[in-house]
Amino acid sequence: MQINIKENNKNVDEFNSLYDAVGWGAYDNRISKIALDNTFYSISVYDKDKIIGFGRLIGDTICFLYIQDVMVRPEYQSQKIGSMIMHKLLEKVQELKKDNPSLRVYLGASKGKESFYEKFGFVKRNDIGLGDGMVLFIK
Ligand SMILES: CC(C)(COP(=O)(O)OP(=O)(O)OC[C@H]1O[C@@H](n2cnc3c(N)ncnc32)[C@H](O)[C@@H]1OP(=O)(O)O)[C@@H](O)C(=O)NCCC(=O)NCCS
Repeated sequence: MQINIKENNKNVDEFNSLYDAVGWGAYDNRISKIALDNTFYSISVYDKDKIIGFGRLIGDTICFLYIQDVMVRPEYQSQKIGSMIMHKLLEKVQELKKDNPSLRVYLGASKGKESFYEKFGFVKRNDIGLGDGMVLFIK
């Protein structure tokens, strides 16, 4: 494996190919382009020139950030690529924290993926006396 890392990659086809690979079903190109254009920061991981992993930060950059779309191509999972993506995203968070020490980072873990994020210090809101995270699916 020859690992290369790119910041702020906006390649829609690469983003969509990972969405398909992890079984989420890609958005159409128009939607993915807007999503990537409005992303604050992202990490793409390549094996040579093939994209194998991705993760991004969205948010207002000073008070609240959300980690979104952490995904590793199935045949590359369990080889610490996801961890590398998380470390890079959290490095960027540390930089931003200098401007606002109370910066908070949220994420919504998929069912069963919580323990992956716990390795990086994330805690379940309920465990620290906060309410549930909530989501609205607009009809
Ligand atoms: C979740 C995901 C990003 C993890 O990436 P990865 O490269 O396979 O993970 P790593 O090899 O870096 O694993 C790091 C640690 O997390 C653990 N871990 C990995 N996948 C996990 C999972 N699905 N559930 C719980 N723990 C997991 C590993 O056992 C490892 O533990 P260790 O440090 O004690 O050895 C990857 O499996 C993936 O893309 N899954 C499909 C998409 C997805 O569900 N993304 C998360 C959305 S919330």
